Amino acid sequence: MIYPATETFIHEAAHSIRLGGVVAFPTETVYGLGANALNAEAVAKIFEIKQRPFFDPLIVHVASHEMTREVVATLPDIALRCMKAFWPGPLTLVLPKSAIIPQIVTAGLDTVAVRMPEHEVAQKLIHASGVPIAAPSANPFGYLSPTTAEHVFSQLGDKVEIILDGGKCPVGVESTIIKIEDEGIVLLRYGGIPVEDIEAVAGKVSVIRKQEVEAPGQLPYHYAPETKIVLVKDVSKIPDDSSYGIIMYKKRDVAFKNIHIMYLSDDGDLRQAAANLFTCLHALDALRLSVIYAEEIPEIGLGKAIMDRLKKAQARHS
Ligand code: TXA
Ligand code: MG
Repeated sequence: MIYPATETFIHEAAHSIRLGGVVAFPTETVYGLGANALNAEAVAKIFEIKQRPFFDPLIVHVASHEMTREVVATLPDIALRCMKAFWPGPLTLVLPKSAIIPQIVTAGLDTVAVRMPEHEVAQKLIHASGVPIAAPSANPFGYLSPTTAEHVFSQLGDKVEIILDGGKCPVGVESTIIKIEDEGIVLLRYGGIPVEDIEAVAGKVSVIRKQEVEAPGQLPYHYAPETKIVLVKDVSKIPDDSSYGIIMYKKRDVAFKNIHIMYLSDDGDLRQAAANLFTCLHALDALRLSVIYAEEIPEIGLGKAIMDRLKKAQARHS
């Protein structure tokens, strides 16, 4: 059921987490499906609800630096610098794990992904639970991430007892994931913090080593709607057919009468485009169209995360 994220329901959700339950909650990126990260059985329920393969590790959400220190084995200087600059916020750090994190959370890896979310509801929920919360995005495995409580409900329905409704997620794409290694920083997923911003505070970030898939978010066909997605440079050539949809980068006059059009932004603001991306994909996917065309957007800053999700959605059907 969906409940408003009032103090009362946040505390009820925290109570459920303490008892080993699973709740859906908003973060600034997407909605998460959370359980006590220190309780292996509770975490197993997340995998069951999502139909997620056990080889795909989860992100542990924390609300304080003390909590971070409890879940990691070491906190190198470069990690501290990233935390200072981007936490709370959409940056996930992969670091050596501490012994209190069960294997199921990390899929047997000796590293753990940690993030301090900025969303007030997420922070209150973690504080009230008193434990770090392991949470993937609240969608069935491989499908689109939810950016509203309704998306969660329509994808997972009654499998989740409590869905805290905190409105639409302001960032709208998942966190950027980086792995901190002795040799430097490796990017595992483009996301809500642009790589350029990370490089400005922490130095060079090496981009994903293609052959070694470390995060299943790197699989070429992740984040896909059911409808076929086709990326196009020039939308003006698309036939004006009512079985088609278009996601356009910015608002402008077009001659289409029949095609279903949605806009990512008013005039090209990448932040606005990221915030609207999954909303547009969910809405057009629900219309059961034959094709959703997506206009290519500039691959700079947040544009990289947006294009990454669109390319992965396209890859599923090609
Ligand atoms: O914005 C977000 O990151 C959202 C919100 C809920 O926080 N969460 C999210 O979780 O996107 P999920 O599970 O959908 O994606 C997490 C990614 C997965 O691709 C997983 O493989 C990777 O993080 N990951 C987790 N632990 C890892 C580790 N130890 N090493 C490498 N990748 C890891
Ligand atoms: Mg996900």
